[in-house]
Amino acid sequence: MELYLDTGNIQEIREIASWGILSGVTTNPTLLSKEKGDYREILKEICNIVKGPVSAEVWAKDVEGMVEQAKDLSQISEHIVIKIPCIVEGIKATKRLSSLGIRVNMTLIFSPLQALLAARAGASFASPFVGRLDDRGHQGIKIVEEIVKIYRNYNFSTKIIFASVRHPYHVLQAALMGVDIATIPYKVFVKLIDHPLTDIGLERFLKDWEKRGELS
Ligand code: E4P
Repeated sequence: MELYLDTGNIQEIREIASWGILSGVTTNPTLLSKEKGDYREILKEICNIVKGPVSAEVWAKDVEGMVEQAKDLSQISEHIVIKIPCIVEGIKATKRLSSLGIRVNMTLIFSPLQALLAARAGASFASPFVGRLDDRGHQGIKIVEEIVKIYRNYNFSTKIIFASVRHPYHVLQAALMGVDIATIPYKVFVKLIDHPLTDIGLERFLKDWEKRGELS
């Protein structure tokens, strides 16, 4: 499973990219609105750091506006993937953009049937928002399980991005299901490496080694 960072924050991206295991970044208008400066410059910088798919979302709600904004955002870098919301206009825009060779990440997916339409429209990525479903008392994970099954049934090439991650257990569930990608907020990403037994174990190994006089 590929690991993406779900943020618009350059410092967070630099930090996780330095681990060498970051495959991409997803942004959205809410995330970018938290960052200072021109959004195009921020996206350009993210693309320079990551050199993998970087999702940037349109804000128009009509096909023409979405296509125009998508074309414009695509000029920022070859790494830009266009996030389009899963509404009727979004499906139309995705069909147009995919036929132009512009990669789309269909976002705000909350049902397996929306994901089916995204794949039929030629989206390169489909993002079910698991955490937001969980927040409302649904089992977000079930939706993803069904999307995985549908995509495998028909051999769709659309990649599933497990989105709206709230905690490390979501990442584990995504990996166990064989989801292609999980996009993870920074505060959850740093928890993936954390285990007290690793710290305790390392401390003991180093103390024992020191007793033998091997540490300077
Ligand atoms: C995904 O692409 C979205 O940016 C994100 O996962 C939404 O997460 P949220 O529900 O925490 O806002």
